[in-house]
Amino acid sequence: MGDYSNMASYYDVIMTSGYYDYAKIVDNLVLQENVESILEIGCGTGLILQELIQRKPHLQISGIDLTASMLAIAQERLKSFSNIVLSQQNVCDLHLPKVHDLIFSYGGVWYFVVDGDSEPFLVSHIAEHEANVQGIEKMAQHLSAKGDLLLGIQGPHHDYETVISNGTKYSQKIDPTDIGFTKHYYLFDGSKTLMAQTVKYRTYKLGEVEKMLSQHGLIYQPETRENKLFLRFSRA
Ligand SMILES: C[S@@+](CC[C@H](N)C(=O)[O-])C[C@H]1O[C@@H](n2cnc3c(N)ncnc32)[C@H](O)[C@@H]1O
Repeated sequence: MGDYSNMASYYDVIMTSGYYDYAKIVDNLVLQENVESILEIGCGTGLILQELIQRKPHLQISGIDLTASMLAIAQERLKSFSNIVLSQQNVCDLHLPKVHDLIFSYGGVWYFVVDGDSEPFLVSHIAEHEANVQGIEKMAQHLSAKGDLLLGIQGPHHDYETVISNGTKYSQKIDPTDIGFTKHYYLFDGSKTLMAQTVKYRTYKLGEVEKMLSQHGLIYQPETRENKLFLRFSRA
């Protein structure tokens, strides 16, 4: 379920070679004035949290991730910030000592894909439906009574390969499956395979997601803002 161990040591160079734009992601987090505590689900190597804490140094931040080797990089990156607490956890068994004003995930456990004008659909790193239901319940237990959930938006995934900043070749291949799709990630140095990682994803229609989240009082808030990078679900 969404283990990124093989990719961890190459993750930053792949992502910062244009895969994600971290400054733009944090621009889009659109924090309300009263937000004091934030949880990132699937924080990976901590690239979003680093950008966030530089802009909002007084936030209380929690980050969780399933993959120990990803989190180890985040721990090192964020070690000077005493108000960031990271822990290795599967969201399905999430257990933290407090609730948060805002919970978000960007490319982490759950994210939306928006393809042109068609309806957004959710992509989950968790393949089993029951585990998704449990993860949503655990997540919701860690959100304050008037809190918001923001789930990141990405464009459609497709097969491609590209040379990244360190001169190696990144390649991804997508195979449709009964529950969603399987994505194969590779990094090549000439003919040598440096990294190969396969992740099985489950997909959900927006209506199915709305139903699962509404069980926990989280209601979809359509926003017409151009180029938004998150869909918002609110309790307030
Ligand atoms: C594509 S990375 C995104 C990392 C980070 N948000 C970023 O923007 O760079 C997805 C992360 O989700 C984590 N993940 C996948 N399934 C998870 C689960 N069930 N519980 C917690 N984290 C999970 C993976 O370990 C991985 O680090």
